[in-house]
Amino acid sequence: MKIISDIQELRAQLRGQNRASFVPTMGNLHEGHLSLMRLARQYGDPVVASIFVNRLQFGPGEDFDSYPRTMDADIAKLEKEGVYVLFAPHEKDLYPEPQEYRINPPQQLGDILEGEFRPGFFIGVCTVVMKLFSCVQPSVSIFGKKDYQQLMIIRQMVQQFALPMQIIPAETIRADDGLALSSRNSYLSQNERAEAPQLRMTLEVLRQEILSLGPSDPKQLLALEKKAKEALIARGWKPDYIAIRQQKDLLIPSAIDSTPLVILAAAKLGKTRLIDNLEV
Ligand code: PAF
Repeated sequence: MKIISDIQELRAQLRGQNRASFVPTMGNLHEGHLSLMRLARQYGDPVVASIFVNRLQFGPGEDFDSYPRTMDADIAKLEKEGVYVLFAPHEKDLYPEPQEYRINPPQQLGDILEGEFRPGFFIGVCTVVMKLFSCVQPSVSIFGKKDYQQLMIIRQMVQQFALPMQIIPAETIRADDGLALSSRNSYLSQNERAEAPQLRMTLEVLRQEILSLGPSDPKQLLALEKKAKEALIARGWKPDYIAIRQQKDLLIPSAIDSTPLVILAAAKLGKTRLIDNLEV
């Protein structure tokens, strides 16, 4: 595997490749990321991965400095997965000067849910992803459904900017007890780790409740969201949101009909903020 930090060198290495399949990451790779690499291999060749902890998407007081950086272990994992190039730019490679041009996703999608609780997060994500796409020029890129809103925003960005590439969604990988794999799980204490699957369980209960609703007023969904939130609070969690939304645009459903729904949640357990979602 070639490990490249310089953009010109990356372009030279990938010259003539028009089927590259790309997986952007922030490193600290776990089985969830590796499943993305495997999916990438099915959709293109060569597989290119990136590792870059993107300062632009962290708010003040968030974990940019303490975000786990495990480059040597990550390289060994990517080698094993047969990744052809690892693009691992330093900050001065990707942002040699202050990044003043930024991609601003539409408010109705970028400022809700994660965007409401992490202002500017999706501007940071879209800006770096656009820049990484411009460096790698892949024909396909893989994004996990764990970050459901991110996946949707990137898909629409690619569509609206007519980028000649396809975004492929990948299913969330979970531990045996149901906890969605995430680099931030490493922040959990032993007790918190034992409690953490409750987030997924709460979403599962909520899903069953939604499915058992007959034709009814969508206001009932609000009552179910509230109940789920209270259940987590009673166990010591601090939920930012538990929201039942339409899969197609993440808006609040105006009717309970055949519109596919998704439940999205973010909650703090101790100091660790976990997110998860479940399609209904
Ligand atoms: O999902 C992530 O790990 C990051 O948001 C991404 C897409 C690599 C951009 O920094």
